[in-house]
Order: sequence, then C-alpha cells, then structure tokens
Amino acid sequence: MNALIHKAETKHQLTREEIVQLLSDATIDEELFAAANRVRECYVGDEVHLRGLIEFSNYCQQNCLYCGLRRENKTITRYRLTPDEIVDFAQKAASYGYKTIVLQSGEDPYFTLERMQEIIRRIKELGVAVTLSIGEKTLEEYRAYREAGADRYLLRIETTNRKLYQDLDPGMSWENRVQCLKILRDQGWEVGTGSMVGLPGQSLETIADDILFFQEIDADMIGIGPFIPNPQTPLAASQGDNFPLSRKVLAITRLLLPDSNIPATTAMEALNPEGRILALMSGANVVMPNVTEGDYRGLYVLYPGKICINDTPGHCRSCITGKIESIGRSVSTGHGFRKSRKQIETKNAMKQE
Ligand code: SAM
Ligand code: SF4
Ligand code: FES
Repeated sequence: MNALIHKAETKHQLTREEIVQLLSDATIDEELFAAANRVRECYVGDEVHLRGLIEFSNYCQQNCLYCGLRRENKTITRYRLTPDEIVDFAQKAASYGYKTIVLQSGEDPYFTLERMQEIIRRIKELGVAVTLSIGEKTLEEYRAYREAGADRYLLRIETTNRKLYQDLDPGMSWENRVQCLKILRDQGWEVGTGSMVGLPGQSLETIADDILFFQEIDADMIGIGPFIPNPQTPLAASQGDNFPLSRKVLAITRLLLPDSNIPATTAMEALNPEGRILALMSGANVVMPNVTEGDYRGLYVLYPGKICINDTPGHCRSCITGKIESIGRSVSTGHGFRKSRKQIETKNAMKQE
C-alpha cells in the first residue's frame, strides 16, 4: 500500500507537501478512494443522510465572478419564494421523510432578520433540523437565527488563497468570511464550509491548504464541488473537467476528517452521470436533493448542466434512494448531526472487544 495513504488512513494527518504528492499522482487514485471509503464506513457508517434543499431566492447583492446568481448577471430570471411557499415546500419535504431542511439563497436583503426568524420557527415546528446557507451576516443576525431554532450553517470558504478569493469575490473580504465561521462556531452552530476545485488561479498547493483549513477549523460539514464555468459570467472561458480532482480532494478530506459529514455534491453529478455515487464511494455520506418545486428549480442557475431541473421532489427522493441502495448503503432515518470522533472510536473499540 502507498505509504502516504496508509499514514492518512491510520493517523488522519498529512503535511501540505504530502497532500500535494497524493493530488499529483494519478496512479494511486483507486487506492485512495478505497481508503477513504473504509474510513467513511468505520467512522460514519453506511447510512447516508439526506438533506432537502430549498433554493428560495436567486437574488444576490454579491458579484462573485464564478456564480450565475451574481448581481451583474442580467440574463437570468430572478425569483424569490414567499415565506408561505418556503414553509409549504419544507412541509412536503418532511412528509417525504427528510429530517433536515437546507434553506439556500443568494444574499437577498428582502429576507430580513424578522422574515427569516419567522420562516425558521415555522419550519422547526415540523421536527426537522434546519440548515442555513444564506451568506455572510453579522454576529447579531447569526445569533438571532440560532435563537429562532436554526441548527447548522453552511459557508464555504471557496478557496483559502486570500488573494484569489478577493479577486474572485470583488468587494468581499477573506478575513470576514473566516470571521463569520469563527462566530458561528462560538455560537454553537454545526459549522459547514467547503471549496470549489478547479478555480482559475488555483494550484495543488492552495487546494492542499483548503483541506488543511477544513481540518484546522474542525468543520462539521465540508462541501467540496468542482468549479463549473458559467457562460453568463466573467469566468465563461475557463476550461477543464474538474470532477476527477474534486473526487480526490473529497477522498483526502475524508481521510483527514474521519467523522465529518461530507456531501456528495450536486455539482459532481452535473459533470459525471454517476458523480454522486462515485463520491459516496470515495468518502461522502450525505446527499442534498432539491426539494424546491416547479420552474424555480431551473432558475437557480449557478452553473450550466444542473441536474434534476425537470424532476419533482418526490421523483428525486425515490431516485436517490434507489441509487444509494444500489451500492449497499441505506438512507438514514435520523437527523444526522455529527458524532464526535472520540464517541465513535470508543464505540468501535467496544464492538471489537
Ligand atoms: N450565497 C451563499 C454563499 O455564497 O455562501 C449561498 C449560495 S451559493 C450559490 C452556494 C455555493 O455555490 C457557493 O458557496 C459556491 O461554492 C457554489 N457555486 C457558485 N458558482 C459555482 C460554479 N460556477 N461552479 C460550482 N459551484 C458554484
Ligand atoms: Fe451570491 Fe453566493 Fe453566488 Fe456569490 S456564490 S454571487 S454570494 S449566490
Ligand atoms: Fe433528481 Fe435523480 S435525484 S432525478
């Protein structure tokens, strides 16, 4: 066995140089994926947590160069759901068995603190966990969402290369993004971060730094997806199939953070028809099917080739269950909070006795 993979699998530690070595060696891929799959099985088990994703507004005040929702993209039809529609979609998702609702949007000032609090409170009455993915807010706003009952927050760092981040996210500050993650941690949220793989200007070294960053902040959830160039953005001319490298980044992340929740991201499947299954077999243990209904699914266009645009939430629920069961895994019936590494190691040791 490759010595670095063995080290990562047993010690869950690698240096930056070692990560770069693994990322640049195509001959070890299958061994790497198998090791990540073993660590996934040992620490988070065979269950896959489903999180129902509601994309409730595609208005955004930010202007990230990579994203189709950026404010200067005049080619998309903008929409926002009403609070009643959001709660209605959440109710339907709960009736399909989802135990977590993820509310995602652009940074849309229409959704004031009061509106968000009301939506969170109403969804919490359904007995589900609530995850927010609505961008950078103030300490007070995060606290108020938490008080309304929200459980988890997703805020990808996108890239840990400060200069690249600020070039790609004009008007935004890398330090502020990190500060938001620290505040969320201090306030007791389950904290999710993550990155895009294959951004123009990224190198294997900065990708290694991303993985070490996830480890440094001990992220509870880590969303890793390929960057997919969007023709309606300034990065239209970027090239490359970023799926294979994204899969490797996911696998190494699993080796270094054995007990985190790691989704098989939708963007993986936009580039490879088996993307989510391959990700689930390379370390992932979460899937986030879209539970937004109707035409809105096709209007939330971050990148081209988005999957499930013409499907219904009910169809996606049975489709993804079938895929998960086809690889011998099962859909979890729990809320899927992170269990600490210590808890898992003690339980595994008791099983062996
Ligand atoms: N506005 C919030 C934020 O930025 O955190 C949440 C919504 S944003 C659309 C969710 C994620 O989409 C971003 O964190 C980014 O990683 C991803 N994304 C945006 N454009 C993308 C692209 N062209 N390819 C792949 N992922 C993309
Ligand atoms: Fe807005 Fe998020 Fe897209 Fe940036 S990534 S433009 S903040 S929706
Ligand atoms: Fe939507 Fe398969 S998950 S059609």
